[in-house]
Amino acid sequence: MQRLIQRAVKELSEAKKAVALTGAGMSVESGIPAFRGEGGLWERYDPEEYATIEAFKRDPARCWRMLKELGEALLKARPNPGHLALAELEKMGFLSSVITQNIDGLHQEAGNTDVIELHGNGRRLLCLSCGRRFETLGISLEELPPKCRCGGILKPDVVFFGELISESVLYRARREAETCDVMLVIGTSAMVYPAAGLPGLAKSSGSKVIEINPQRTVLTDSISDYLITGSAGQIMPLLVNEIKVLTT
Ligand code: OAD
Repeated sequence: MQRLIQRAVKELSEAKKAVALTGAGMSVESGIPAFRGEGGLWERYDPEEYATIEAFKRDPARCWRMLKELGEALLKARPNPGHLALAELEKMGFLSSVITQNIDGLHQEAGNTDVIELHGNGRRLLCLSCGRRFETLGISLEELPPKCRCGGILKPDVVFFGELISESVLYRARREAETCDVMLVIGTSAMVYPAAGLPGLAKSSGSKVIEINPQRTVLTDSISDYLITGSAGQIMPLLVNEIKVLTT
């Protein structure tokens, strides 16, 4: 592991532009469960019945039971050492942007200033009738689904399966993937497109792809140059410390 961390540090320090792509694993150490695998949200909730836009429109109260659970974890969560290390990498000039599938806002809270949120932000709500957006805080979830002043149903301002990612957001994410020369892929199973296609796009544009994950993924033997096995909260601070040693 130490040898791979040193290799990553060398590649990051030589890169003109490095970006990070993050997934649910990034926030596991902040107390937010991942979706797939043991303890994942999709073990208890079938995504077909809880996370598609059709399911939400059919039965919003039922979907909100899952969303309320996720929302409670999200409101309590604080950035973990992995988030803080990514923010420090940016501050030191070694990271241009973070492309995230997460909806928890923890990268911004940690201090990253260019965060591309592919799947929206769960701290906001959107009224399906009048289109107004609200902060989640202060909205009562006693009665589900929560309603807007206009009487419309409120939905978290996140991308459900069956919904399109905003074109401008996807354009920026793809641009970042095409123009980086190192991509850190942290805590994603790379099962959901279009996010899952970004490491391949980076690779085919000449970038190194470095995975940080406790487990192998579909990228490990195909797209990634190598996998640093471990959690984000464990590996990312080690990587930042090594960069500090190299640069001071
Ligand atoms: P997944 O739940 O599919 O994958 C989480 C990944 O994080 C797995 O590869 C784990 O091995 C890894 N992991 C677990 N703990 C970790 C830790 N402490 N540090 C680092 N890695 C860890 O989550 P995503 O790939 O983000 O979309 O899922 C992608 C999308 O599927 C989500 O954005 C969501 C979901 O359905 C929508 O709902 C549209």
